[in-house]
Amino acid sequence: RNLKRHMECRRDIGTLNFRFLSIYESLIPEEEEKAKQKQLLTLLEKLVSKEWPKAQLFLYGSCANSFGVSKSDIDVCLAIDDADINKSEFLLKLADILQSDNLQNVQALTRARVPIVKLKDPVTGISCDICINNVLAVVNTKLLRDYAQIDVRLRQLAFIVKHWAKSRGVNETYQGTLSSYAYVLMCIHFLQQCKPAILPCLQGMQTTYSVTVDDIQCAFFDQVERLRHFGSHNKESIAQLVWAFFNYWAYHHDYANDVISIRTGSIISKREKDWTRRKGNDRHLICIEDPFEISHDLGRVVDKFSIKVLREEFERAAYIMQYDPDPCVTLFEPY
Ligand code: GTP
Ligand code: MG
Repeated sequence: RNLKRHMECRRDIGTLNFRFLSIYESLIPEEEEKAKQKQLLTLLEKLVSKEWPKAQLFLYGSCANSFGVSKSDIDVCLAIDDADINKSEFLLKLADILQSDNLQNVQALTRARVPIVKLKDPVTGISCDICINNVLAVVNTKLLRDYAQIDVRLRQLAFIVKHWAKSRGVNETYQGTLSSYAYVLMCIHFLQQCKPAILPCLQGMQTTYSVTVDDIQCAFFDQVERLRHFGSHNKESIAQLVWAFFNYWAYHHDYANDVISIRTGSIISKREKDWTRRKGNDRHLICIEDPFEISHDLGRVVDKFSIKVLREEFERAAYIMQYDPDPCVTLFEPY
């Protein structure tokens, strides 16, 4: 009710919608770019299978979860069924192979949290990160892609939020702000809890897809073509949802007690998860449960300084959506 009352104060809501939709459309990657990504993947498959015939390559992250804006890098997972593989040695060898095939800037980052090989393909101009056996990321990529097919407003909202986060400098995990993956989970949670709900909770429904990865059972309903009308009782447009998203994170989320959980489709308590105090480097100042690795808080990178930055940015965005004469410009102004 609040939402309607507030947004009715903006007489320009129709124009705003139109402009947010044009921003969304301008961010969608062209078919040509998708084709180039495929071309690079095919090249990598050829090179990898010469050395490891049983290895498989999967795309994950934004190039495969439908939340990728144009000109993004691609994330590739190399899956190989070999129990005693040493990841560092493997990555160094992989880097060698790729280097000798004219790929540029090949670099093995063996000490990162997720060890990877980075490279750039001079033909397509695309950069790429390759990790080993990170199959959970491939599965959560499918979950996100399935959610995106239920209601187009998820993809619209997430593109706007990611664009805002990049413009405002709050999509930098090494500086204590959130990953793109975390922002998409925040959007899914938001659309699950709004009334009437725009998204269901796929992990709370009948299981039609199930895999076990690293002892974690990943099960959910994936016949999403049957859910195309799920959100149709909610008529809110993208401008209203952007407004409500930022209001939620500025004024309605209980940072002291709540964990958002798309796995359960609701809020769970920090106490229940034992996320009430700092443990090691995990501070749990904003809590975003991973849908499968449920002991994993995507907000763990946020510290006492960056939480302030984040919350001020949410408040700034909420204010702009309410009062600014030209939110589609001001919202994305570089910081
Ligand atoms: P952009 O590259 O910014 O467009 O977004 P992205 O969707 O590729 O997201 P990001 O680079 O943040 O993450 C890549 C993928 O890694 C995600 O889509 C997840 O599948 C996976 N992932 C799993 N756990 C984590 C985590 O703790 N942090 C991040 N960043 N990614 C994770
Ligand atoms: Mg990525």
